[in-house]
Amino acid sequence: MQAKKIAAVLVAGFTALALSACGGAPAGGGGGSTQKTTFRLAFNQTDQHPQYKAAEELGKKLEQATDGRYGIEVFANEVLGSQSEVVQDVSGGTVDLAYVAGPILESFNEDFIVFNLPYVFDSVEAQSKVFADDAVMGDLKKSLESSKKLTVVGALHAGVRNIYNTKRPVKAPADLTNLKIRVQQSNSQVQMIKDMGGVGTPMGQGEVYTALQSGVLDGAENNETVFNALKHDEVAKYYSYTRHLMMPDYLVMSTQVLNGMDEKDRKALLDLMPATVEMANKGLIEYAAASRTASEKAGAQFNDDVDTAAFKAATQGLVKASINNPVRQKLYDAAQKANG
Ligand code: GCU
Repeated sequence: MQAKKIAAVLVAGFTALALSACGGAPAGGGGGSTQKTTFRLAFNQTDQHPQYKAAEELGKKLEQATDGRYGIEVFANEVLGSQSEVVQDVSGGTVDLAYVAGPILESFNEDFIVFNLPYVFDSVEAQSKVFADDAVMGDLKKSLESSKKLTVVGALHAGVRNIYNTKRPVKAPADLTNLKIRVQQSNSQVQMIKDMGGVGTPMGQGEVYTALQSGVLDGAENNETVFNALKHDEVAKYYSYTRHLMMPDYLVMSTQVLNGMDEKDRKALLDLMPATVEMANKGLIEYAAASRTASEKAGAQFNDDVDTAAFKAATQGLVKASINNPVRQKLYDAAQKANG
């Protein structure tokens, strides 16, 4: 990963040099001397993923809306680093934008925990409704601006997460006894797997395949897209629909970079976000279904005979203990209301 990251940084640096050597791309329209700014967006999954496609589309639309003053280059496959690395780079202003999963932001502001808790949303519709409502989300999205110089510009549906492992189908909590299950790097995720009956092992996404192969891990939890695209289905064949999480991915941006845009261009970027989120969310649902079919062809077994009520009951202590201040209560209540 490190070598890939260095290579990507060198390429980006070289491109910047080449651009400045030829005077930069002129802004469209008046033939003026304004240089084009190309934002670098870090992504940890492949260029087949709907979030990649939505980011590319955002770049094109942004270029049109700003008369060529701004564009976006998307770096897929963790070439700029893992999510926990690139979020630091966005905070420092050396990377402009990144997609990061909810738990990654918990270490900056623990209130982000609410939407990373098990069984909080009943449906994609409920989740999307809450995430699109700035009366609910506005303060959370801006909560890292002064401490970390990070602005959340979009909250996205990131699939439904289920457990898969190398040993057996999981039907009830007892089936997870002693199984080491990879989770994202936050305490809530480790505790969640403990409550579900297993042993939570925090790890970056890029290391999971090798860990499953070598037996360092017995399993992981994710949506069907990661299971198939990162070939986890080759080494961990039992995928069981625990449906324990529907957590967000966030598109985060350097607050300094965002505030450095002139007001009209900044508005153009923010106005493009709802359509970007919608495109990614819709695409993800289709991509998850296609990923399941591809994994089945590769020999994975999907098990829908799961006692989700037992997993839900086992994790309610974590949910209750985590909703422990008025900010979190408000977010949680909005989710409950949207569930209907
Ligand atoms: C999901 C999510 C990613 C995240 C990954 C993971 O696929 O969309 O943002 O990085 O899970 O588990 O690490």
